[in-house]
Amino acid sequence: MNGVLTFSPPPLRIGNRTLAGNVLLAPIAGYCDVSFRLVARSCGGVALACTDLLCPEGVLRENKRSLELAATCPEDSPLCMQLYGADSTRLCEAARWAEDHGADVIDINMGCPVDKITKREGGSSLLCNVPGTLDMAQRVVRAVRNIPVTAKVRLGWDDQRLVAPFLANRLEQVGIAAVTVHGRTTDMRFQGAVRLDGIAAVVAAVNKIPIIGNGDIHTPQDAKNMMDSTGCAGVMIGRAALAAPWIFRDVQDFLQSRAIPPSPSIEEKCRLMRDHFYNMIRFRNQRVAILEFRKRISWYAKHMNPCRILRDAMRVIDSVDDFENALRGFLLWRRQWESEHPEFVNTPSGIEESEPLAA
Ligand SMILES: Cc1cc2nc3c(=O)[nH]c(=O)nc-3n(C[C@H](O)[C@H](O)[C@H](O)COP(=O)(O)O)c2cc1C
Repeated sequence: MNGVLTFSPPPLRIGNRTLAGNVLLAPIAGYCDVSFRLVARSCGGVALACTDLLCPEGVLRENKRSLELAATCPEDSPLCMQLYGADSTRLCEAARWAEDHGADVIDINMGCPVDKITKREGGSSLLCNVPGTLDMAQRVVRAVRNIPVTAKVRLGWDDQRLVAPFLANRLEQVGIAAVTVHGRTTDMRFQGAVRLDGIAAVVAAVNKIPIIGNGDIHTPQDAKNMMDSTGCAGVMIGRAALAAPWIFRDVQDFLQSRAIPPSPSIEEKCRLMRDHFYNMIRFRNQRVAILEFRKRISWYAKHMNPCRILRDAMRVIDSVDDFENALRGFLLWRRQWESEHPEFVNTPSGIEESEPLAA
């Protein structure tokens, strides 16, 4: 005992559901589909993961693209399905559809700044019509049978309209079970520093429901700092997870024990990429997996340096064999490089490569 008292946050409770921790995977349109969610979950620490934003019309008509975005499987749990729009009736119907198709939580998107969404009065344009938004949220809460409904907001449209504290307070009154706050205004898009004081103001404005802080969390220390300085009950992580899907485990461990596990070994990182690639084949098809991985390698490469040989090979893959050869060639080169540069080698976390990377 060193006499230092540490405080571990209680696991998040969203409505009738207690989660296993405090760290959530954000929706990132085009990136956080089931194939990636399974990878992040396999690393540990993901208390809840969210689909990309889903169009109510698309899921209700069950069009191909919407069904791909809403795809899930039993291991992809617990799952939040996020809906956007401004038509209460269709949003309620889509919420019931989501409840029947694997959602444990429904989230209403009130933060997307993209013109395509805001011009249809969805996303963060909902921040500009608080009465209409509250009415819609209440209808969705009443429409679902047995699962909580949450909202994801920004601080407001711009600095003159910082509605998030007032909105969150009223959303709680109409039955919304948790609010995630991205600590920027719509006007800021993704520029400028995340405003922790803005998130703290939302925490102060609600009675009981958990507020989940979001924005620019890259390390376990960033997450703890957000929780300590705002009082938020949990954190949601987006972009950092695309490069380090193990960040949820790192953050949760750090919140609980102030210890960060060793970084995954280079073999484990290759194994995660490989799982991701084959998940894409499972849920989409080979062509999508190949085209996607030519781009996704830029994210994985951020924590694999030196890895130029892998980036260069992966950017031109044209078959499953090319993918396997890129990984195998990189690992051979990397082992040689590590033997020549022992001072740069990560502490491996002990998981051995249990099967050859060749198909
Ligand atoms: C390319 C991209 C797509 C996004 N798609 C969604 C989305 O579908 N729904 C949503 O609520 N937020 C979306 N976001 C916002 C993220 O969920 C998150 O709030 C934001 O990226 C800040 O968190 P981060 O710094 O941890 O990434 C998106 C962000 C990016 C960069």
